[in-house]
Amino acid sequence: MREKVDQLRQTALESLKQLHQPQDLENWRVRLLGKKGELTELLRGMGALPAEERPRVGQLVNELRAQLENAFAEKQKALQNELRRIKLQAETLDVTLPGRAAPVGGRHPLTLVQEDLCDIFQSMGFDVVDGPEIETDHYNFEALNVPADHPARDMQDTFYLTDTLLLRTQTSAAQIRTMESRKPPIRIVCPGRVFRADEVDATHSPVFHQMEGLVVDKGITMCDLKGVLEQFAREIYGPETKVRFRPSFFPFTEPSVEVDVSCSACGGKGCRVCKGSGWIEILGAGMVHPRVLAGCGIDPEVYSGFAFGIGLDRLATTRYKISDIRLLFEDDVRFLAQFEGGKQV
Ligand code: PHE
Repeated sequence: MREKVDQLRQTALESLKQLHQPQDLENWRVRLLGKKGELTELLRGMGALPAEERPRVGQLVNELRAQLENAFAEKQKALQNELRRIKLQAETLDVTLPGRAAPVGGRHPLTLVQEDLCDIFQSMGFDVVDGPEIETDHYNFEALNVPADHPARDMQDTFYLTDTLLLRTQTSAAQIRTMESRKPPIRIVCPGRVFRADEVDATHSPVFHQMEGLVVDKGITMCDLKGVLEQFAREIYGPETKVRFRPSFFPFTEPSVEVDVSCSACGGKGCRVCKGSGWIEILGAGMVHPRVLAGCGIDPEVYSGFAFGIGLDRLATTRYKISDIRLLFEDDVRFLAQFEGGKQV
């Protein structure tokens, strides 16, 4: 019997050493120390012993049980420590690693152009104002000296919502709203979307962007208009930029001009961007028509003013060498990611 006890001790302790998983350890405990375990089995075998030997053997078995229980507890502790060590090692943080940057979107090329323009005009003392995209016929046409049957209405194909409501075809509506709500001296720019029923192609879109400018004060002349626009063109396209004024017609300005800048891509020699002419048309402008001033309650005998409307899409496409205006409206991230701050995602 003593041999049996010794043998069991040896195999039990030996097998305990080999264990590395908590589940195996538990199985070991059940197999040896459990209710139907090998120790219990051993005790049962005592029934066959002579009565005088039983207490001694009982003591041996109890000692073995105590020993195995201790070994089990120790092993359990060691295993727990080992597992914790492995877990901690796996969770080690290298606080010196650089952080993972969250992807940030870039600003749209039109936004970049618009912000630059606002900066330039604000530095010249202009306020930035906003106007509604749904306009009345009055603000978009009538008050700008374009009565209902005037042929100038054909210059712009209009989306009408009702007989009197429309999607603004020009930011010029902001001129009227401003002159109605402010007294001279007035210096404002108004950027925004405008709408015309144009066929879509590489240079036309039914939605595009303008920035209106308006200055009204005593003694404002065409020279002021030229000075402001030349300054703006040089800031946008560089100090070498030349500016050309061509006579034109708008119902709400008199005289009216269209303004070209020398092509920044070829320096005026002629290239694909400027279609060989060396010039790029970027805006319409003129001296505010006396009738428009008077209609807003501003005395044209006392005050004069100039206005301009810059096409922002053309500015963006020439500045960033974008060959097709439709790219500005398609929201393709591969396109948008190429601009400042943009990151391909
Ligand atoms: N509103 C005109 C257009 O859309 C541009 C313009 C604005 C012309 C202001 C003169 C003065 O074509």
